[in-house]
Amino acid sequence: MAVDLLLGLQWGDEGKGKIVDVLTANYDIIARFQGGPNAGHTLEFDGIKHVLHTIPSGIFHKNAVNVVGNGVVIDPVIFKKELDALKKFNLDINAKLLISRKAHLILPTHRLLDAASEASKGKAKIGSTLKGIGPTYMDKTGRNGMRVGDLELSDWKEKYRNLANKHEAMISFYDVDIQYDLAELEADFFKAVAALKDLTFIDSEEYLYQAQKQGKKILAEGAQGSLLDIDFGTYPFVTSSNTTAAGACTGLGVAPNQIGEVKGIFKAYTTRVGSGPFPTELFDEDGETMGRVGNEFGATTGRPRRCGWLDLVALKYAVRINGVTELMMMKGDVLSGFDKLKVCTAYNYKGEQIDHFPYNIEAENVTPVYTEVNGWKEDLTKMTAADQLPKNLMDYILFLEKELEVPIKIVSVGPDRTQTIHR
Ligand code: GDP
Ligand code: IMO
Ligand code: MG
Repeated sequence: MAVDLLLGLQWGDEGKGKIVDVLTANYDIIARFQGGPNAGHTLEFDGIKHVLHTIPSGIFHKNAVNVVGNGVVIDPVIFKKELDALKKFNLDINAKLLISRKAHLILPTHRLLDAASEASKGKAKIGSTLKGIGPTYMDKTGRNGMRVGDLELSDWKEKYRNLANKHEAMISFYDVDIQYDLAELEADFFKAVAALKDLTFIDSEEYLYQAQKQGKKILAEGAQGSLLDIDFGTYPFVTSSNTTAAGACTGLGVAPNQIGEVKGIFKAYTTRVGSGPFPTELFDEDGETMGRVGNEFGATTGRPRRCGWLDLVALKYAVRINGVTELMMMKGDVLSGFDKLKVCTAYNYKGEQIDHFPYNIEAENVTPVYTEVNGWKEDLTKMTAADQLPKNLMDYILFLEKELEVPIKIVSVGPDRTQTIHR
């Protein structure tokens, strides 16, 4: 049985959490493969809204096992908070949530290093969520990191101390004023580690291999989006992991020839939170409307998301890099009421018109070339079938499918599980 992937195709917050929750009904296992608590994945059902950061979005389904893969970085403190918030749902956490021994741990000093690095950059800051993601992946690739499996060894506290001491020395190298009380942070950390140790640790690559052999259906859940990928995103304004399809292979130990469908998810417009280039960004009333109607505030940091028109140059790039086989369009309901919509179909790049995603998309190099299409006025949020969708929205969908050469299989018309139209 092949492993299907679900990935964000823009700068994150496309609606991955909602769709994974919807799709979990058809899967036995949901597995997160990268990122950490920088993610905020929102689910809504039965009048409840829930935001997950590290725990996969299949957790609310009785049928599914959720795996936190080796490619994920775990902050025990945030993880514990997520677990506490799940208590009222009476889930059998030890059976339903399995954690890879190879996943790396975010230490309190990783978070401090993130803050020190950002503060030292001044205006050039990445706009990190300050969850310690960059420093943790640096320790991973630098071969200094601590892994979940280390917590099963008797000398883990020693290992922790050595690494934290090194981090403290590094923090003092930054010429910035970071106030912290490490003893207090450590007390929280040790308490949270104790809670983490009560959970089920596994060799997740072996678990997934055996599950596949038994014919279990597996969906890999991405975090962030393709344009935040460490290699293919808008570097350096990216996150520190491979958010694209290849990341699922390394982040779970699934071989490339075992990947089945690649489900790519995008908003009907574009958002970005944090710094970095964004060619179709709007600074006018239209952008303000998208932000207000779409309630575009970061699920992890609460920061307002920057909003703009759909960028097909960027989206085509993401579709190609990931090998997307089916698309899902989210938040079409937010665009109801616009007379005209713009879609960026090319860039004016250093005086030349191009339709590929270039090395540098900074505003001084790139101006978007737009195609205008008709908007729709109808409220979509109560629609339940494709034949109810307004003609102008269907024209928008058909236009995008033609440009992207991949079918749009799901049209989402609201945040709730039920507001999902399958085509
Ligand atoms: P993720 O990080 O990709 O899981 O996305 P987030 O949860 O950070 O952000 C998506 C936001 O849009 C959440 O608040 C969702 O509840 C909401 N959402 C998802 N799909 C739709 C939709 O089709 N319409 C509207 N209006 N909101 C949606
Ligand atoms: P989900 O999974 C949107 C952005 C941050 C910042 C940059 C680097 O909810 O889609 P980091 O904390 O990784 O050092 O931040 O990446 N970012 C996200 N933006 N959604 C996310 O996750 C993000 N995770 C990180 O805003 O610009
Ligand atoms: Mg999010």
